[in-house]
Amino acid sequence: DKGDFDHFMLKEIFEQPKTISDTYRGRIRPNQNDIVLGGLIDVFPKITAANRIIIIGCGTSWHAALVAEYLIEEYARVPVEVEYASEFRYRKPIIHEGDVVIAISQSGETADTLAALKMAKSKGALILGICNVVGSSIARETDAGVYTHAGTEIGVASTKAFTAQVTVLSLLAFKLAKERSEIDQEFYEMLIGEMLAIPEKLETILVGHPYIKTVAEKYKDAVNALYLGRGYLFPVALEGALKLKEISYIHAEGYAAGEMKHGPIALVDDNLPVVVVSAKDSYYEKVVSNIQEVKARKGNIIAVVTEGDNGLRKMADDLFEVPESHPAVAALLTVVPLQLFAYYIAVMRGCDVDQPRNLAKSVTVE
Ligand code: F6R
Repeated sequence: DKGDFDHFMLKEIFEQPKTISDTYRGRIRPNQNDIVLGGLIDVFPKITAANRIIIIGCGTSWHAALVAEYLIEEYARVPVEVEYASEFRYRKPIIHEGDVVIAISQSGETADTLAALKMAKSKGALILGICNVVGSSIARETDAGVYTHAGTEIGVASTKAFTAQVTVLSLLAFKLAKERSEIDQEFYEMLIGEMLAIPEKLETILVGHPYIKTVAEKYKDAVNALYLGRGYLFPVALEGALKLKEISYIHAEGYAAGEMKHGPIALVDDNLPVVVVSAKDSYYEKVVSNIQEVKARKGNIIAVVTEGDNGLRKMADDLFEVPESHPAVAALLTVVPLQLFAYYIAVMRGCDVDQPRNLAKSVTVE
């Protein structure tokens, strides 16, 4: 039931304050001083001792994995590799017994992800799953796991499942960092507090949807679009581009902003919308110079910025403001305006947003 919404995708975007809190509720102790991932309790000593963590997935789930790579390496200091399941399963990867392999899948039925984890299991790695569909094939195949509590996702373009995956992976990264003594109790509790604050901050982004719609109107006839981000916001750029291309059929590419000079800058002209995802993080100045490079070539900048960032206000053609947060959780906020932007553009172009052409919700064949 779509309720008052025109499409399931829009309904699911608006559900995110609730689905994120449903996903962390019960996993953060009431006094907010610890994270307990019930499904992983028995295997947590093995995860803490892991030599390496390999995260596999496809599409949007692979983007969630990239956020986790940055979080786990920065805070828990465990080497992480992220791979497309379709590559991993066929390329004869080196897997040792001390490795932990995490499969991420909304449906829990993606054929490549399932096959990849079966292969890793046969090599003796500990296999974990982060799935949304309870009792799905991937959930059943894993040694242990954590469910995302996003509820049924009907729109083919994944939205609330992505933010729920990032929520679980963030909790895992923070807990692992604490268990490995890489962060102290005070910092751990600060990260937990930042996570708890996300739903309310998301509400303020969602309230701004009419403005996002007016910006979408300006760019709905674009032929191409470029999405740029750095650090935790690089996967958000990839995800924003994927949303736009899959539902509006506009060709969009996501890039690490530092890679722009190595090719994509050749595309910039006065017809190219360039979506820049920024936050007040350590990359901020670098992102500003990327914007200047685009402006110098007359590209149109649509910037996702932290509220009150007046510096970028002057440089960007259009701005989507998100509340300030710690960089470790910024992906959960910055992705939402991009979901809405893609949604409104697709609707204005007359596309079937819930059932885009050629796509299936669950990809059970390779
Ligand atoms: C994008 C999208 C797909 C899926 C991918 C993996 O919006 O929906 O890219 O993310 O097919 O699906 P799951 O997570 O079910 O394994």
